[in-house]
Amino acid sequence: MVAQNPVIGQNSVINQEFLRAFHQRNPGITEAVLQRAVDHGITPYRWLADAVPKQGTVLDLACGSAPMRRTVAPGCAYVGVDRSPAELNAAQRSGVSKLIRADAAALPHPDAVFDTVVCSMALMIAQPLDAVLAEIRRVLRPGGLLAATVPAEVATSAHAARLFGLLLGTGSLPRSPNNAALADAGAAFARHRLRLIGDEQRRFSFRVRTGADAQLLLDSLYLQGTGPARMRVLSVAVRTAAVMRPSVPIPIRRLIARAE
Ligand SMILES: C[S@@+](CC[C@H](N)C(=O)[O-])C[C@H]1O[C@@H](n2cnc3c(N)ncnc32)[C@H](O)[C@@H]1O
Repeated sequence: MVAQNPVIGQNSVINQEFLRAFHQRNPGITEAVLQRAVDHGITPYRWLADAVPKQGTVLDLACGSAPMRRTVAPGCAYVGVDRSPAELNAAQRSGVSKLIRADAAALPHPDAVFDTVVCSMALMIAQPLDAVLAEIRRVLRPGGLLAATVPAEVATSAHAARLFGLLLGTGSLPRSPNNAALADAGAAFARHRLRLIGDEQRRFSFRVRTGADAQLLLDSLYLQGTGPARMRVLSVAVRTAAVMRPSVPIPIRRLIARAE
């Protein structure tokens, strides 16, 4: 029997209402964390952009505050799509102009107009996954590329355990709705004529230097079901742990697929 962690062990699946409210409240928070997560000097955004051709049309699906606009090659014709008005406002404030508010499962674009779809840290939550993958395939030209990052499966327990240390034990975070389907990404993609050609993992590290850093990391987690009183307990715990200046691992998986 797997013990439930009393503080963060909700063992639930993250729902869409929670996600919408979370991104409305915290626009740009994923970027704030991942721009500071490094492995041998590169961020997860740089790693993802390395898989993107230097030219052509690029759709940044679930772009958030649009960190990928600043990471893909300047020669690319970029369009960012997200459903969150707050995230799109953050993207606009940072100078990105080609932005569209839309759902990943119902894109407003014609067929076969993009050379590349990038999707940073969103494929695990965008629902329903089959409709999203069908849309990605529809807007990609044949031979085009899907390049996506998602948290690696091990991220949840390792991330939480390192962040919260012995204070909280080995509880699990709420699961992303598409985790099970993406465990066999090759099969999930193949149903939509997307052939998986790359599936790698890399471990980035976020160095916690201050209590504010620890709070940022805590706030960036989808802690669905954790009420205000628990959040205050967690806040004190992570801020206390920050004096150890821990380096928190953020393992990320990069998936590359070719449109057939
Ligand atoms: C973890 S954030 C990643 C943001 C950005 N790509 C990054 O890496 O910094 C997830 C993003 O997915 C967006 N999102 C989730 N489901 C979506 C959907 N069905 N359609 C469009 N955007 C979606 C959220 O609004 C949020 O901006």
